[in-house]
Parts: sequence; structure tokens; C-alpha cells
Amino acid sequence: MASDKVTVPEIRARKNGGPKIAMLTAYDATLGRLLDEGGADILLVGDSLGMVVQGLPNTLPVTVDEICYHGRAVARAARRAQLVGDMPFLSFQVSSEKALEAAGKMLKEGAFEAVKLEGGAAVADTVARIVAAGIPVMGHVGLTPQSVHAMGGFRVQGKSEDAAGRVLNDAKALEQAGAYAIVLEGLPADLGRRITESVAVPTIGIGAGPWCDGQVLVCYDFLGMYREIRPKFVKRYAELGDAVLEATRNYVRDVRSQAFPSHEHSFGMGKPQSVGEPTGSKPLVEGTPPVYGPASDDPSA
Ligand code: KIV
Repeated sequence: MASDKVTVPEIRARKNGGPKIAMLTAYDATLGRLLDEGGADILLVGDSLGMVVQGLPNTLPVTVDEICYHGRAVARAARRAQLVGDMPFLSFQVSSEKALEAAGKMLKEGAFEAVKLEGGAAVADTVARIVAAGIPVMGHVGLTPQSVHAMGGFRVQGKSEDAAGRVLNDAKALEQAGAYAIVLEGLPADLGRRITESVAVPTIGIGAGPWCDGQVLVCYDFLGMYREIRPKFVKRYAELGDAVLEATRNYVRDVRSQAFPSHEHSFGMGKPQSVGEPTGSKPLVEGTPPVYGPASDDPSA
């Protein structure tokens, strides 16, 4: 493990004196490398990949195998950031035993260092079971996207005093069960603060106000690439969607007008040669490509 690798005990310790935890989602090695170099503390392979990578209307169809596939890709790139994998819908709700098997598979085949799962008091026993096996668990309460149908859509939770009390109890149950951090999603800012002040583990907010111990955003949201939904809580730190559109239009124009490829993007002929003779041609790219860890997708290789 790299010496500056962000560990679970370090994340837990951030509760007392920070710095605030900066978490982002990531789904592939190229972007994962950039987010890691940029200093993100935690990279989450979220089941949000169902929406932003697979183009689905919600996260429900995502599978453990898909989370593991993307986990291996990000793991090859992440040097410092902690890698957390989201447990998809029905991978942990059926029984604690099945949940432990799925969580174990995610560490063995997805290269994750911790798992995250949605739900509060109802999943506390399952969280305790996974934690007892030595697998760190991040909780997730409030707006839990896997319950989209039960919630009647993606809606802010905890707005009445009763509902706020239930979310607070959920967070406390996760803390008791041994979760090392808790994502608070889609909550009034005051409730985010109340929960943060009531639990001894760090809270990581997304649409839960400024008082959480950390924040998380979906990478395609903060980069301005996912344009289908633009929730109020998203701050765009770049407009890569616009940049990609402009680049594509320029490329199409250049190909059609034959401005690309020009002489500077073309190769010349070498000296005539016989079969087997070294070509003398230069490699297509100078230097070696970045090493992103094991090249195989087969975890046993
Ligand atoms: O799936 C996901 O990306 C998440 C984060 C938004 C917290 O659960």
C-alpha cells in the first residue's frame, strides 16, 4: 500500500479536526487517475453508474459484477484515494449471509477497500455482520436512490419532525453497527448538521448542507457532463459537456473539409526493406504508457 494511501482509520479520525473529506464517484481508470491526482480522498464506484454510464433511468438494475468491473478499472489508477464500492440493489437486502458474500466478492474481485450500502436501522444487523468480517462499511441514509419507487421519486427526505427523527435514528443505528462513515443524501441542511453533531463517525453529504464532515458528488455532475438531471445541490466545477460538444463539432467539420489529418498528423515512407529486417520506424508514441496496475480483468490472473 502506498504510504500516503487514505485509510479507513484516517477517514474516521477526520471527524475530530478534519480536514473535510472530499469524495467523488469514478467509474474508469482515465478519469480515476485524474481525480486521484487532483487530491480526492475517496473514490466511490457508485451504482449511479447505472444512470451516468449505462443510461438507465435509475440505479436498480446494476449488478455486483458490474460494480466489480468498474472497481478494477479505477483501482488500477488510484494511488492515494480510498476505493469504495457501492453494494447494488438486492445484493444486501435478502439476508446478512448473502450480503457478506457480496461484500467479500467486492473486495476480492473489485479491488475495493470498503463497501457502501443504503439504509438505516433496517440494515444495521447486516452492517454489523459485514463489519465483523473485517470489511469496512460506509452507510447511506436520507434520500436512498435504490428506494426510488417507495419514495415516489428522487425527493428530499426528513422534512417533517417525524421524518427527521427517523433519519437521525437510522444514522445512529449505523454508527452502533460499526459503520466508519455515513453518506447523508438529500436532507435539509439543519438536519445534516443535527446528524453530524449526533454521531461520532464522519458524515459525508450530498445535498445535505455545509455542516457535514465531508462532501461527495457524482463526477459527471461536477464536471458538467451529465445534462439529463441538474439537481440544486450540484456545483459544476467545469463545463466539460460543452467542451466535448464543441470539440466534436470541430472534429466533424475538419474531417468533412479535409483539414484533418494534415501533414503534421501523417507518417512518411521508410527505406525499402526485406522481410524480418527491423523497420527502423519510431514507436507511435514516445515513452511508456502509464502503468495502471494489473492489466487483466480476471481477478485470479
Ligand atoms: O451511487 C452513487 O454515486 C452514490 C453517491 C451519490 C453517494 O451513492
